This record gives sequence, structure tokens and C-alpha cells, in this order.
Amino acid sequence: WQTHLPWIDAISRLKKQRNAVILAHNYQPPEIYHTISDFTGDSLALAQQATRTEADVIVQCGVHFMAETSKVLNPGKTVLIPDTGAGCSLAESITADDVRLLKAKYPGVPVVTYVNTSADVKAESDVCCTSANAVHIVESLGVERVIFLPDKYLGQYVASKTNVKIILWEGSCEVHERFTGEELRAYRRAHGGVRILAHPECPPDVLREADFVGSTAAMITHLNERRPRRVVMITECSMSDNVAVEFPDIEFTRPCNLCPHMRRITLPRIHDALLHLRHEVHVDPAVAQGARRAVERMLAFGR
Ligand code: 13P
Ligand code: SF4
Repeated sequence: WQTHLPWIDAISRLKKQRNAVILAHNYQPPEIYHTISDFTGDSLALAQQATRTEADVIVQCGVHFMAETSKVLNPGKTVLIPDTGAGCSLAESITADDVRLLKAKYPGVPVVTYVNTSADVKAESDVCCTSANAVHIVESLGVERVIFLPDKYLGQYVASKTNVKIILWEGSCEVHERFTGEELRAYRRAHGGVRILAHPECPPDVLREADFVGSTAAMITHLNERRPRRVVMITECSMSDNVAVEFPDIEFTRPCNLCPHMRRITLPRIHDALLHLRHEVHVDPAVAQGARRAVERMLAFGR
């Protein structure tokens, strides 16, 4: 923490000078999440927060698709991402051309797109969803079939919770796909009475083994409501680090996988982003309009 403090001070000063807000995803490390961020949350909460800010500048501490979503919802504001290499294997698994081909193959079938996608892909979609509201959004459309993009595991999870037929895409999260059901069984054997919380981007054998499946925000709500004694969070590493600070009475076992993209966001890079107003995120206005329609339709459906 000694090495972090000068950066935290300098960032706090620059934030005031620039009239900036810092949005930090739940997967950001504690030195960002618990210090300089103005808002923290899952992808849905950050998207909602982006619509409410009065600031001139938004610094997105997360990955590129999140910064694009903030820009789409705030076309008049300067949106910065501290490292342009902060991508996402899900967002990179599909292009707007792929979506157009799918729509031609399944005419009239609505396209529900996970927010972990580029603005180009969102613009081709009927409505967005997050891991927190995917089942709700799919059912709210009142149709028999949907195309669900791009996470096959989240799509399979949604399919297991609804009668709506789900047409899947082959995308996956490079962080969550590495967990296995066997790993979870080993935690149960090693840590008696442990409660296992898993993100729906995990493969089906992992989700079958978990006690609770939900988005990063839903996991926090679950801990608040249930107060288990021992917990394993099957998701990105920083999640447990951040949450453990808020729940000192819970014992966290820390098996986790790192998201290399989230790790690209560091205090020095946030500092430089505010100092030099870089790296500004631009979205073509026509694309932004289409993407905004899909995101706003999701927000209108509610959580
Ligand atoms: P949520 O925060 O919406 O659960 O998403 C997890 C994720 O992988 C974001 O990149
Ligand atoms: Fe993308 Fe997975 Fe990293 Fe989230 S954890 S940003 S879904 S690669």
C-alpha cells in the first residue's frame, strides 16, 4: 500500500481538476476498487451509473466494451480507458458481420446480446442483457426463440432456466471456462461446509456443483442475505479480495483465475489517463445510436 498512496493522492487531485468520475468493475484490484473509484459494480450497475453522472470525464476501470457502453450512453462526455489493450475474449468472439449472417439464417428471431460485446455487435442486436438479468430479458420478449450471443455457457445457463428456445454462439470467457466441476468437489472435501458461488460464464459442470449461480453483484447480495461462514467465489480473483474487506466475518477460500485484461488497468495508467486525457474511446455515431437502443431497451426491462 505504501507504493500505492502517492498514486492515489495524485489521481484524487486530477479527478477534481478534470471533473472526472472513476467507474470500477468488481474485478478491479482493491487498490483501485476501494480507494479512487466513485462507483463500483457489475456490468449492469456501471452501465446504469454511466447514465447518471454529471461529470465531464468518465474513466472506465474495466475492459474496452465497458468503456464503449459508457460512451454510447454518454455521447457528449469524454470517456477514457487507461489501457487500450484491455479487451475481452467474449467481445472478441463475434463481429457485426457474424450477427448479420445469423439474422439472415433465422429471420425474425430476436437477437439478445450480452453486454460483453463491441458497440458494433450491440448495434445489430434487438436488446442487450447482463449476467444479472439474462433470463429476465429473454423472457420479457415474449417469443418462443431467441438468438443469444456470444457466451455459450451463459446461454446454456439461461436455457436451463426458461422454456424459450435458445440459439447459441460459440463464445466463452477465457477466465471462467478454466474452472472445472472436479475442482469444486475438491474444495468441498477440503473445506467442510463451504458455500460455493459461481458466475454463469462458467461451464455447466461447474454450475451444477455450485450452491448459488449469479452475476458479481448477485454474489455480493447473496453474501449479505445468507452470511455463510465459509465461501468460495468461482470467478475472477479480485472479486474475493474486494468482497473479503466488506465481510470480515466470512472466511474466503481463494481459488480464482485472473483476467489478464482487467489487470492492465493500474494506478499509474489511471493517473496518466487523467493527466493526458487518454485513451479516449470513440464510437461511430450511427453505431452508437443502434447500440444505445439495445442497451436502453435492456435498462427499460429492469433487472
Ligand atoms: P458481471 O459483472 O456482469 O457479472 O460480469 C462479469 C464479467 O465477466 C465482466 O467482464
Ligand atoms: Fe471478458 Fe472474462 Fe475478462 Fe470478463 S473476465 S472481461 S468476460 S475475459
